[in-house]
Amino acid sequence: MDEPSLVIEPLGPHHDRAAFLCGEPALDAYLRRQASQDIRRRVAQVFVALGHAPGKIDGYYSLSAASFEKDELPPALAKRLPHYPVPAAVLGRLAIDRGRQGRGLGEMLLLDAIRRVVRASTAIAVYAIFVDAKSERAQAFYERYGFRAFAGEPRRLFLPLETFEKLGL
Ligand SMILES: CC(C)(COP(=O)(O)OP(=O)(O)OC[C@H]1O[C@@H](n2cnc3c(N)ncnc32)[C@H](O)[C@@H]1OP(=O)(O)O)[C@@H](O)C(=O)NCCC(=O)NCCS
Repeated sequence: MDEPSLVIEPLGPHHDRAAFLCGEPALDAYLRRQASQDIRRRVAQVFVALGHAPGKIDGYYSLSAASFEKDELPPALAKRLPHYPVPAAVLGRLAIDRGRQGRGLGEMLLLDAIRRVVRASTAIAVYAIFVDAKSERAQAFYERYGFRAFAGEPRRLFLPLETFEKLGL
């Protein structure tokens, strides 16, 4: 669905975190209690989608830098990588307010997060984005956009930036 008035910006003190409810209490609690602290401590950047009502958060996601061992990847990908840890970005959280789900916002935020990482990767190399899907349903959502499971860890998903660029999304 087209959301022409959607604004995606860094989380700030003027955003109303208390009203956000996505159906996963841990993701609501993160936004309320942890997100600002993570930003201050430089362990995550948190972006919010606004547009529905002034100050109201329609959705959010968080991004952090990370790395993983190439042995965690399928052998066909691992054999093309060096023996030191592979640089990555982690999509720590992604959630849409319950009243705003099913309108394409999750897709818009996911694509915004991936594109942000692609832009950052021109300065700091990033091989892949990974995410820990909270549920089977969330996993199905990510798999629609080319994310695949790590070896032996069905809920831990990764998307090489190269794959994303080939998809042309
Ligand atoms: C999962 C979530 C982010 C999806 O956001 P959304 O705005 O409802 O999804 P969208 O409207 O952008 O849907 C995009 C596409 O994914 C599909 N989709 C949406 N939720 C899905 C799910 N849980 N499983 C599989 N597919 C899903 C939609 O049908 C849509 O496809 P279509 O365009 O062919 O109809 C949202 O439902 C949410 O916040 N859920 C609770 C928190 C959560 O589970 N977050 C993930 C944490 S790992």
